[in-house]
Amino acid sequence: MNNEIISLLKNRKSTRAFLDKEIDFTIKEEILNATLRAPTAGNMMMYSIIEIDNIETKNKLVKTCDNQPFIAKSPWVLVFVADYQRWFNLFKYYNCDKIDTNKRLSLPKESDFIMAINDTMIAAQTTVIAAEALGIGSCYIGDIIENYEIHKEMFNLPKYTFPITMLCLGYPTEGQKNRKMLPRYDKKHIVFNEKYKEHTLEDFEDMYSSDYYKNINYMDGATNFAEHMYIKKYASSFSEEMRRSVKVALKNWE
Ligand SMILES: Cc1cc2nc3c(=O)[nH]c(=O)nc-3n(C[C@H](O)[C@H](O)[C@H](O)COP(=O)(O)O)c2cc1C
Repeated sequence: MNNEIISLLKNRKSTRAFLDKEIDFTIKEEILNATLRAPTAGNMMMYSIIEIDNIETKNKLVKTCDNQPFIAKSPWVLVFVADYQRWFNLFKYYNCDKIDTNKRLSLPKESDFIMAINDTMIAAQTTVIAAEALGIGSCYIGDIIENYEIHKEMFNLPKYTFPITMLCLGYPTEGQKNRKMLPRYDKKHIVFNEKYKEHTLEDFEDMYSSDYYKNINYMDGATNFAEHMYIKKYASSFSEEMRRSVKVALKNWE
């Protein structure tokens, strides 16, 4: 099948090295206008996007997001904030508490947070694709969920908001363009028919049987891919900080 959008999706890869070239205002506007057309639960757009221009803020984000220097080199940094505050404030302004039989406005809870996260991630991925279509690469920064207290102050975030992801965008360097694409797991390991199926040890062995996994330089102390990923990701200090930070933030939604 020859389809421009499908081929764009199949060939996209993350960009972590950017040309020293600004993105024109009109191009940014085009990408953001496409982003705002993303599907959104109940057409409520439970997200906000914060553009970061200030180099000092970018430098600070390098540190608060697990020391990733390329953040400061990105010409366009966008923080995607899950946002129920806007709706909650609207309900307050219009005294919606009078509708509630308890005469008090019920507070946003965990499920509202999850709906806002859905909206926010869909908007972020729409930005990724719109940018890609215009030759602009991007990389997510999941570490923005760390250091909740610091980011809350940096971005002046109210209670019912949470910075769920960040995007660093920019024109890719030649090196980035030529970088090999990372493999994905075979469809049979990810897409199931009717019911979920837990992986057996044999399934995992099949999943990691390709040369790519055999040629990885394992982390110190690891003798196989599972141990490598456990040390590198799951038991890392950044994962620990994510767990701490999100736990603090979740208290707002209890
Ligand atoms: C939610 C999320 C968080 C991510 N966080 C980071 C990050 O903090 N730093 C980074 O360099 N890449 C980050 N990435 C990019 C992934 O590492 C990348 O998508 C993955 O390795 C696959 O590579 P590819 O996008 O080039 O195919 C993140 C991606 C997602 C979807």
